Amino acid sequence: MIIRPLTVFEREAVRNFYLSLTPEDRRKRFCCTISDETISKYVDRLNFTRDTVLGAFDEQPRLVGLAELVRGATESEMAFSVRPEKRGQKIGTQLIQRLFLRARMCGIAKVFVVFLSDNTPMRRMASRAAMAVSTVDGESHAGRELSAATAEELAHWYAEESLSHSRYFGTLGIVRWGSLVSRSEGTISQPSEVLAPTV
Ligand SMILES: CC(C)(COP(=O)(O)OP(=O)(O)OC[C@H]1O[C@@H](n2cnc3c(N)ncnc32)[C@H](O)[C@@H]1OP(=O)(O)O)[C@@H](O)C(=O)NCCC(=O)NCCS
Repeated sequence: MIIRPLTVFEREAVRNFYLSLTPEDRRKRFCCTISDETISKYVDRLNFTRDTVLGAFDEQPRLVGLAELVRGATESEMAFSVRPEKRGQKIGTQLIQRLFLRARMCGIAKVFVVFLSDNTPMRRMASRAAMAVSTVDGESHAGRELSAATAEELAHWYAEESLSHSRYFGTLGIVRWGSLVSRSEGTISQPSEVLAPTV
């Protein structure tokens, strides 16, 4: 599993990820019924520089999970989504741990996540991450205060980030190269094909 911060150039991958979710999974993620148009507007507003969008990738590498950290004045909101066929493999747990570290290294003192009260996986994930959960009118709120990251943790984040980007682009190159070789059968492919992202 590769987990890396996504860049502004990956906005369309995020859009496709959310648009591919079923109505029920959209409801779990956004705590309401949400149309394609509203999802698209939401993705248009994502700020990849101020906020953090983490992507989890499988070995293809396909985008299989997303975690967002949206900065607020006093506390910052986190949100998670993992592809249905990939759930139960601790991808969500890895995403929340990475997002905590990201928040701590950004100096964020408090994070929260909002979810529907019948969302057992999210509740378990939050409780395991030592977040305090409360429920009002069918909606749950989990919050946690954070300490600043240590120098060692900062170093760890940057080392991991660098490694995850190289693993991602390395894997992308290998997969692309493999598909080009099998497709081309001796013909030379255009460079644009090589550069087109598959996320
Ligand atoms: C919430 C979500 C991100 C968790 O992702 P995941 O990769 O399956 O998470 P994990 O595998 O790390 O599991 C997290 C916990 O949920 C539990 N869990 C997973 N699937 C479960 C299920 N179907 N029923 C009950 N518990 C379940 C796991 O056992 C784990 O708890 P544990 O650590 O006590 O064993 C995923 O279910 C999801 O995408 N849901 C839809 C979007 C959503 O609900 N977002 C939350 C609001 S922002």
